[in-house]
Parts: sequence; structure tokens; C-alpha cells
Amino acid sequence: MKILVVYHTTYGHTLQLARAVEAGVKSVAGVQTVFRRAPEFPHVEKELEAGDGYATKIWKDQKDIQPCTLDDLREADGLLLGSPTRYGNMTAAMKALIDSTASLWVSGAMEGKPAGVFTSTATTHGGQETTCLTMMIPLIHLGMLIVGVPYSAEGMIHTQPAAAVLTAHRPSRDPRVSLLPLRKIWPSAVSRANASLNSRKKSVVKRWFSST
Ligand SMILES: Cc1cc2nc3c(=O)[nH]c(=O)nc-3n(C[C@H](O)[C@H](O)[C@H](O)COP(=O)(O)O)c2cc1C
Repeated sequence: MKILVVYHTTYGHTLQLARAVEAGVKSVAGVQTVFRRAPEFPHVEKELEAGDGYATKIWKDQKDIQPCTLDDLREADGLLLGSPTRYGNMTAAMKALIDSTASLWVSGAMEGKPAGVFTSTATTHGGQETTCLTMMIPLIHLGMLIVGVPYSAEGMIHTQPAAAVLTAHRPSRDPRVSLLPLRKIWPSAVSRANASLNSRKKSVVKRWFSST
């Protein structure tokens, strides 16, 4: 069985994640890992080649990793896709790779294959969930089956991106707490509005009677 790991990176963090993912895949008996990078845009490659900053160093470290092709995707039995977050979404290079898969979509080549996604952000609330969700959508269009990291995996309970599940596990974040405004504050606000309407109605009625 072939599992394809595809990543994009500028500063190297997602490459580190991808290497960790690759190591995890390799630890499963009978599974072959195929490790690829999302093709970089030619104009970005040119800038990186000409530069001397940190991104150029990362580029030089990774440029020999083979860029992902449609054949890689077609031949894979499963896909793990990683992109850094750019404004709460995947990078344009990763999206360009996904947008090149129309022939795979039409032929149904990716249908029924499992897929997972991973990302890296600079900030805690910088859009990890939005990036992962938006990366999943084209994979669903391709007919892939999304697989998350299960909570039986060590350390998952304490991760920030798992906020929805933390909510269920910590009494102070019990989702029912968010219903309290509806149960208590809202009814009391409704009663107050009702009372004020009644008193206005009463005064209008009083004025009406006094004028007649
Ligand atoms: C154009 C641009 C947009 C970014 N948008 C976000 C963002 O929405 N949220 C965030 O937390 N970090 C954002 N970042 C920071 C990167 O997501 C972060 O540095 C990432 O981990 C870098 O991954 P890499 O080292 O694999 O390139 C942005 C960075 C760039 C250059």
C-alpha cells in the first residue's frame, strides 16, 4: 500500500511536520511512503534562487525533493496533505496542485481513498481549523474519505486545535454553558421588554382615556 505525503512550505515548519507524518507512516508495517512537495511557482523559485534569506536556505534544503505529479496522486492508496496557513487558508502553491487534478476528478481516480490534512500557523487562533477544513473540501469533491487524528492518540486531549473536543471534556467548557444566555438571560430580557411594552401601552391607554 502506498501512502503519499505532500507538503508545501516556505519557512520549513510544515516540512518538519511532513517529516514527522512520514515517520509515522513508515512505522506501519506493509506501507510504502511516497514523499513529495507541492510544485513551487516558477516566479517564486526564481526569487528564492536569487535570494539569500531564510526562505532561500529552506528552499535549497528541499528543492531536491520531487515535486508531486498527477501520477503520484493517481498511484497513491492514501494521501496526507500539509500546507502552512496563509490568511486562514492553504498556500496558493498547494491550491494550484489541487486545482490541477481535474482529470483525476473526472476519472474518479481518487474516489474512496483515505486522506488527512495538517497545517502550521504562526498564532494559536490563526486559522488552523479553517485551513484544515478548506483543505478537506476539494478532497471531498475528489471523492476521498477524510480521516482525522483519533483521540486515542497520545497528547490529543491537550491540543489547542481540538477545541471542540476540549469543550466536551472540560466541565468549565461544557457546551451546555453556552446555552445559559438562552435559558436565563434571554427570557429575563424578553420579560423586561414585555414589561416595558406593557407600561407604554398602559400609558398610551391612560392618555387615550384622559383625552376622551
Ligand atoms: C502571506 C502570509 C499569510 C499568513 N497568514 C497567517 C494566518 O492567517 N494565520 C497565522 O497564524 N499565520 C499566518 N501566517 C504565518 C504562517 O502560517 C506561519 O509562519 C507558518 O507556520 C509558516 O509555515 P512554513 O514554515 O511551513 O512556511 C502567514 C504567513 C504569510 C507569509
